[in-house]
Amino acid sequence: MGLVAAACFAEAGNSVLGVDVDSSKIQRLQKGEVPIFEPGLDEIFKRHLGAGNLTFSSELKDGIADAHAAFICVGTPQSEDGSADLRFVLQVAEQIGKALNLRPKDADPLIIVDKSTVPVGTAARVSSVIAGTGTDRAFEVISNPEFLREGSAIQDFLKPDRVVVGCDSDFAEDVMKALYAPFLQASGGKWFRMDPASAELTKYAANAMLALRISFINEIAGLCESIGADVDHVKVAIGADHRIGPAFLNPGPGFGGSCFPKDLQALLKTGREHGHPLMALSATVEANRHQKQALASKVRKHYDVVGGAPAPLAGRHFALWGLAFKAHTDDIRESMSLELIDSLLALGATISVHDYEAMPAVKAKLGDRVTYASDPLACCEGADALLIATEWPQYKVADLEAAAKKLKAKVMFDGRNLFRPEAMKAAGWVYHSIGRRSV
Ligand SMILES: NC(=O)c1ccc[n+]([C@@H]2O[C@H](COP(=O)([O-])OP(=O)(O)OC[C@H]3O[C@@H](n4cnc5c(N)ncnc54)[C@H](O)[C@@H]3O)[C@@H](O)[C@H]2O)c1
Repeated sequence: MGLVAAACFAEAGNSVLGVDVDSSKIQRLQKGEVPIFEPGLDEIFKRHLGAGNLTFSSELKDGIADAHAAFICVGTPQSEDGSADLRFVLQVAEQIGKALNLRPKDADPLIIVDKSTVPVGTAARVSSVIAGTGTDRAFEVISNPEFLREGSAIQDFLKPDRVVVGCDSDFAEDVMKALYAPFLQASGGKWFRMDPASAELTKYAANAMLALRISFINEIAGLCESIGADVDHVKVAIGADHRIGPAFLNPGPGFGGSCFPKDLQALLKTGREHGHPLMALSATVEANRHQKQALASKVRKHYDVVGGAPAPLAGRHFALWGLAFKAHTDDIRESMSLELIDSLLALGATISVHDYEAMPAVKAKLGDRVTYASDPLACCEGADALLIATEWPQYKVADLEAAAKKLKAKVMFDGRNLFRPEAMKAAGWVYHSIGRRSV
């Protein structure tokens, strides 16, 4: 998120210094290498690195003396108890506090921006950590949560639906408005100024709402399967109601990724801490835990696996298309594919995998527990069935007849509903999907 923000602020004509404690990352960036896959990032990054208005350093103090704003974009992973681990945020706060005295005494206040997803009260905590360093330079800590989506991060940043700023002063609002003006002009998006606590909560509430919609439609999909209805019909008809809208009503193999799972846990923790348990959110998480087993359950059912038998899928080999937690990213954090792989391996099966961007990350994590195919067709060679877990658009237009020739049987478990059951039936497939009748 920090790299995308840095590149996009540079694109808007600012001079940006990106800082990271990971010195190998900084070295790669300085050499012009983008360490993640994100559509459109490479081009903007290279343009501004070349022009000299996007630079990188391992030293945070290099950027503080003459900055207008300092953005904290570090990770906020899940702690043991579900809460957001603020260790990295508070470390950076301390470093900023120590570097503040490099600023001229009469400089404008430095606007320190919590852009990481952080629980209510963090702006105040960051502020007191900085004040605790004994600095006498002026600063204000504000909240500016980020709503970009991996896979379309650049477009989301350059053309935001809205920008949320939680701050106490008009000065801070003016600095942020000037930074975001080009983006909001391009998108016609909305500007929301509020208090820091409301801004912090807005980010969690937005992610919770999106996750709730996914779990809701996944549960309706499960019911569709049981009663013989078709979720494709149901979802478009409910989405046509302008009070509901069509977005985020696609059933699938459960949500994963680096944000929803940890942010939901953090919000649940906030609710518990304040004596206000969030019951709909607990159910969302529980439904998702169940949904992440949906594809593996279909496989077990198809092969008549009964509980207790050791390695009941021994001798079976599966092809798995898709490893990233969603399309257009190489991110495998909390990816449902990894859970699916674990379940099938535990039942004794062997697996060949393919993904357009996430193979290196999976190789680093799973090593030789699975085999890695160079392309989707090679992945199918000798497999008993094809499983689809990520909605890469290339899979939707793949040559299924060619895939079928490589498979031992024309059997597919489609966790992303890329195809219509009638068409698959007509083409002679045994086809299992989410929320539609198996054919
Ligand atoms: N990834 C997304 O799509 C997304 C979207 C919106 C919000 N967010 C939020 O943004 C934050 C970052 O997410 P991410 O996915 O970019 O995480 P990430 O783990 O990919 O990146 C965090 C970076 O911070 C660096 N870091 C850690 N401690 C540091 C320190 N003391 N000084 C400098 N750098 C340090 C790490 O080395 C790492 O490169 C999280 O709070 C996340 O919830 C992420």
